[in-house]
Amino acid sequence: MYLTKEEEQILNGEAGETLRQAIEILVALGDIYGADGLIPIKSAQIAGVSYKTIGDAGLEWISDLKGQVKVPAILNPAGMDLEDWERLRISPEFAEKQKAIVQAYKKLGIRCECTCTPYTLEGFSVGYGDHLAWSESSAISYANSVIGARTNREGGPSALSAALLGKTANYGFHLEENRVPEVSIRVECSLKESDYGALGYVAGKIIGSEVPIFRLKDTPEKDELKALGAAMAASGAVALYHVEGVTPEACRLGFEEPEEKIIIERSQLDEVYESRKEAGKAPELITIGCPHCSAAELKKAAELLKGKTVSKETWIFTSRELAKRYPEYIRTIEESGAKVVCDTCMVVSPATNSYSCVMVNSGKAFAYVPGMCGAESVYGNMEACIEEATGGKENKAGGSY
Ligand code: F3S
Repeated sequence: MYLTKEEEQILNGEAGETLRQAIEILVALGDIYGADGLIPIKSAQIAGVSYKTIGDAGLEWISDLKGQVKVPAILNPAGMDLEDWERLRISPEFAEKQKAIVQAYKKLGIRCECTCTPYTLEGFSVGYGDHLAWSESSAISYANSVIGARTNREGGPSALSAALLGKTANYGFHLEENRVPEVSIRVECSLKESDYGALGYVAGKIIGSEVPIFRLKDTPEKDELKALGAAMAASGAVALYHVEGVTPEACRLGFEEPEEKIIIERSQLDEVYESRKEAGKAPELITIGCPHCSAAELKKAAELLKGKTVSKETWIFTSRELAKRYPEYIRTIEESGAKVVCDTCMVVSPATNSYSCVMVNSGKAFAYVPGMCGAESVYGNMEACIEEATGGKENKAGGSY
C-alpha cells in the first residue's frame, strides 16, 4: 500500500502515539483488502459507544487516545438517554461509565450526538460520491444506497482512526467496481411501510453480504428504504443495495442484469409477521425507532397516539436534534404515556434486557433483540405497535399480536 511521506512519518510515530496507532489500523486493513493507498473522507460515524457493548476495555482504550478528529465525526447510539437516563431505570453505575465514554469521545473533538441516522442532522451533510468512514450498519447502508456516498462497514476503532487521520484505506465500496449488483431480487407483491423491514429481513438471510438490485412494484419512500437497508444489514451483512429506478446509482449508472436471480413472495414476508407468535408470549414492551425515527415517523406516531393512553411500556427512539426540532410531536406522544428516548435504542440499551417479549416495527430490531437483549421479538407495523401499546387487539395489517 502506497503511503505519502507524511503518512510514513505518522506510521513511524513522529506525530504521536494516537495517530501512529490510528494509521497502523488503517494500513493493516488496507493491506488485508488490497488498498492502493489512503483517501480523504468527508465524515466519520463511530460505533462502539454503549457501555453495554464495549465495557471497561473499550472505555480504557478511548480514554487513552489524544488529539483531535480532522473531519466532522459523530457517535452511534449510547446505552442510555444522556440527559434523562433514570427514566428507563438505568443503574447509576452504568450511567457513570456511559458518561465517561461519551466524555472521552468529546475530548477528541467528536460531536456527541448519538444517533444511527446522522444524515438527518443539520451540519452533517452527505452527498453523492462522498467518501466516508461510517460504522453503524444501517447508516452505512443508507449512505451507500440511498445517498450514493461510499463507505465500507467500518468497525468502531477503524472509523475512529479514520476520523483522527481524516482518511481511510481505499478498498471495497470506495471503488466503483465493487458497487455493481451481484444478485437481482424481484418482489412479486406490493409493499408498504413495515413490509420493507420484513423484506430486508428475508433478503438479508438469503443473500448474506452480496450487493442486490431490487425490482419492486412500488416506489419506496426514504423511510422505507431506511428500514429495508437496516434489516438487510442485520439478518445478513448487506452494506449496499440498489433499487431499479429509485436509488441514485441504479438511476445514473443503469446496471446490467446480474446472472443470479431471486424472487421473493408475499408469503415469505407474512412469515416475518407471524413468526415467534406461536410461543404465545404477549409483548410487555413496545419499541419504535430502529433506525431512529425521522420527522415523518415521529409525526405519524404522534397522530396515532393522539388522545390515547398506553397501557404497556412504550419507547420511541429518535435523535436528540430531531426531538428538539419537533417539540409538538414529542408532547403529543408523551401525553399518551409513551416515552420519547434519545441518544440510545432498544438494542444497545440494557433497559430492554428486563423484558421477555418486545414488539418492534423494525426488521433490524426483530433480528437483534433476541440475541442482544435476551427477549423474544414480535413484528408488526407502527399501527399494530400502537394498537398493542394502547390495549387494542385488532389489527388488519397482519402485525397485531
Ligand atoms: Fe439504530 Fe439501534 Fe437500530 S443503533 S439501527 S436503533 S439497533
